[in-house]
Parts: sequence; C-alpha cells; structure tokens
Amino acid sequence: MSLDVVILAAGQGTRMRSDIPKVLHPVGPYPLIEHVYRLATRLDPAQISVVYGHGGHQVLAAMAHLDVFWVEQKERLGTGHAVQQAAARINPEALVLILYGDVPLLTQETVGRLLAVAAKGPLAVLTVCLDNPEGYGRIVRSATGQVVRIVEERDATAEERAIQEVNTGILAVRGASLLNWLGRLENHNAQGEYYLTDIIGLATTDGVPVEAVVTLNPDEVLGVNDRCQLAVLERSYQAREADRLMRAGVSLRDPSRLDVRGEIRAVGTDVEIDVNVLFEGIIEIGQRVRIGPNVILRDTQIGDDVLILAGSVIEGARIGSGARIGPLARLRPGTVIESGGHVGNFVEIKNSTLGEGSKVNHLSYVGDARVGARANLGAGTITCNYDGVNKHRTDIGEGAFIGSCSQLVAPVTIGEEATIGAGSTITRDAPAGKLTLSRSRQVTIEGWRRPTRSGEA
Ligand code: UD1
Ligand code: MG
Repeated sequence: MSLDVVILAAGQGTRMRSDIPKVLHPVGPYPLIEHVYRLATRLDPAQISVVYGHGGHQVLAAMAHLDVFWVEQKERLGTGHAVQQAAARINPEALVLILYGDVPLLTQETVGRLLAVAAKGPLAVLTVCLDNPEGYGRIVRSATGQVVRIVEERDATAEERAIQEVNTGILAVRGASLLNWLGRLENHNAQGEYYLTDIIGLATTDGVPVEAVVTLNPDEVLGVNDRCQLAVLERSYQAREADRLMRAGVSLRDPSRLDVRGEIRAVGTDVEIDVNVLFEGIIEIGQRVRIGPNVILRDTQIGDDVLILAGSVIEGARIGSGARIGPLARLRPGTVIESGGHVGNFVEIKNSTLGEGSKVNHLSYVGDARVGARANLGAGTITCNYDGVNKHRTDIGEGAFIGSCSQLVAPVTIGEEATIGAGSTITRDAPAGKLTLSRSRQVTIEGWRRPTRSGEA
C-alpha cells in the first residue's frame, strides 16, 4: 500500500513571541519542520503535503528545498479543517500518515509501528500516557479497552480529564476512510473548530475498530509551543546525538555538554571529546582523535590520531592523520593540514596547504599559501596576501625555515631548504638552500642619554 504524508504546520505559534514562524525555529541542525520532513522522506512516501498558514511566505521561502506539495490553510479552523485542505491530494487507496510540523523528535521506529498497525485496520492513533495530561486530548476507551473517541480537554468532563492516556495527534488512516470522515466533521465544540480527532468517534459510529499504538517515550511526541519547550527538545535531541556517538565508540567527558548542530557523518572508535565541543555542518572524524574543550568544528574532515587542543575554531578544513592543532588555533575554509602538521596558538590559516610534518606554532597568519613538507614557520610569520584589491599566493618549499616575525609579501616563492632570517620583509623570491634576509643594520648610539624631567637630578 502506498503512503501519503500530511504534515500540519499552519499553527500560529503565538507563544513563541517571534516574527519567525514557529516551525522555522531550529532544534539541533534543522528547523522543526525539516526534522518532520526528513522523517517523512525516510518512510518512502508517494507524496508529502504540508499544510501551512501563518507566516506562510516565510516558511515557503526558507523551505523551498523540500520536495513537498504546499497546501495553504487560509483560516485556522482546526486540525480537521487543516487536513481537509489537503483532501484533493489524498489518494483513497493509500495509507495516510498525519504528522505535526512542530513535533520534531518522533522516531522512525515508532512511526513504523503505527503504520504496521494501521495497514491492517483502517485507523490507528499514536498515544502516550502522561503523569500530567493537561492540555491534551484524552483517549476514551470502552469497558473492554477499545478506543472509542478522543475528547479535547476543553470539552471533557471531570472524569474524562482524569484519563492519563492522551492523543499525540499523530495518526495513520486509510485514504478512503479519512476522506469519508473528513466530510462529516462538525464544529459543535468548545472551540468552534473542526477537530481531526472526531474521526475516531466517527469510526466508532461506523462500527470500525480503532487501534491505539502507545509510545513509551514521551520525548518523541513532545511538541513545541514556546521557547522553553524548544530548549527542552534541544537538550533531548542533543542527548540522543550523544548516545549515538557513545554507542559508536566515542568517549564524551560529559554527554550533557556537547552540541551537534550538523551531521557527524563518520566517526572512528576510541575518539575522546572533552566538554563544550560544537559540531556544525558535515563532520568526519577518524580513529583515536582527541578533541579538547571549547572547540568549534564546522564542515571539517579529521584524520586518525589527530589532536585538537582547547579553544580551536576550525571551519572547512581537512586535517591529516597525526596532526596537532591548537590550543586556540583558527583554521578557515580551504585549509589542508597534511599528516603530522603542527599548528599552534594564535595561528590563523586560510585557503592554504601545510605540508607533511610542517610546523606553524605561534602567532602567525598563513593565507593563500602552499607550504611544502618539513617546513618551519617561526613565531609571527605573516603572509601578506592582500594588496587591498587582490589576493596573491605564497609558495614555501619543502624544508624551508622562516625566521620569526618575517613578512612574506605575496606573490612570492621561498625555495626548498631556504632559510629566511628573523624579522625579514621578503618582497622577492628567495632561492633554495640559501639564507635570505632583509634587515636594517643594528647600531648603538654612543653618549645618548634618556631625556629627564626638569627638576630631576
Ligand atoms: C491537538 C489535538 C489533541 C492532541 C494534541 C497533541 C485536535 C483537535 N486536538 O490539540 O487531541 O492531544 O494536538 O499535541 O486535533 N494546525 C493546523 N491548522 C489548524 C490547527 C492546527 O495546521 O487550524 C496544526 C498545528 O500547527 C499543529 C497541529 O495542527 O502542528 C496541532 O495543533 P494544536 O493547535 O497544537 O492542537 P492542540 O489543540 O494542541
Ligand atoms: Mg498543541
């Protein structure tokens, strides 16, 4: 049976107190709605429809990359009304899964269970038992335990309010039955809305059994209404990511002090990650990598046995095996550190390759450069790559030694095994194997005295 997914995302999200539509607020790497979309795509559906409303143009603009049918709900008249807007798209032969755009942490496993049950009967709802069911629709069961209807809190009797099993809002239903029941919804209730939940009562009226799938993990079905709940779901998402890493063989000094706002595509075993490390973009980590505290990594590949020390900020880099970076190093996009390279504190590298075993250990800027293997760039080496208009390249040969505090004015080439005297400003190519320096001669002024203040002896 084919699957159609309808994602409800027309809610206003007033309690977020935001100019940004609720479903665009992020949890981990993605906006809420994108989590739901990604889950939906993993179910291999024939089509996905998203019902949008408030702030619609913003959602459409931000989510243009989603492969979905956008369905506008012009007036917000309830969850039943929202699904009615997508009715024209619903295939009567398909199984229809209803998801909420503001419930981001639902797992494929749980939805899979719901779909398996719904594929047999025409209708299955996902429920959860809560200590405090306040605000949710309650699941009303018959004396034999059969689900007969869902009553919204505002329409419930005191007795019904005591029920702890609640509607998560997520359900799966055969298309033909859904279309039939949607056509029969009424809004005679406390909120004057068309409730999707009334299809459960209609099924009972029609003598159609309703199945309930109970999820044991409330986190999965939590929705976001305000920023406090958003923060709770963020931690819950991060806890899941931390778990996944630890199960893959990574040691986390403190799993609660880790933030994955990207995707760790690959990670080796015996990796150690200290506290407050932030991952963004696409990250790959080799075997036995050690990452110190307060490191930020974005779109970076890290080879085996790499050591990244405290406070380093690394973006768009490729770091070869056995390299050592930091503390307090900054690698910018286009940086390649080949195996065994060392980059020390207060060193910035951009769009440059540092050859095998080469070192830039202190206070340097290397931009638009190629540094051959086994070179040593002394403290304070600066590539002057920018003339105010254009960027120019610096080429440093294998085994070169650049004395401290030298400026290499690009475009310029330093030959293999060349030595540059400390404090030089190099404006022309320096030949291989020789010492080149540019330095004014040191003089001592005889008989010079420091100025004195009048009145002083
Ligand atoms: C709904 C359920 C309730 C359930 C709860 C779980 C109904 C009538 N009630 O209640 O049983 O316990 O969710 O969180 O279904 N939406 C639209 N258009 C609308 C109204 C809502 O797209 O006109 C979307 C919202 O964006 C949201 C979802 O539907 O994603 C649920 O809407 P919400 O207003 O939160 O429903 P609740 O009253 O919480
Ligand atoms: Mg709600």
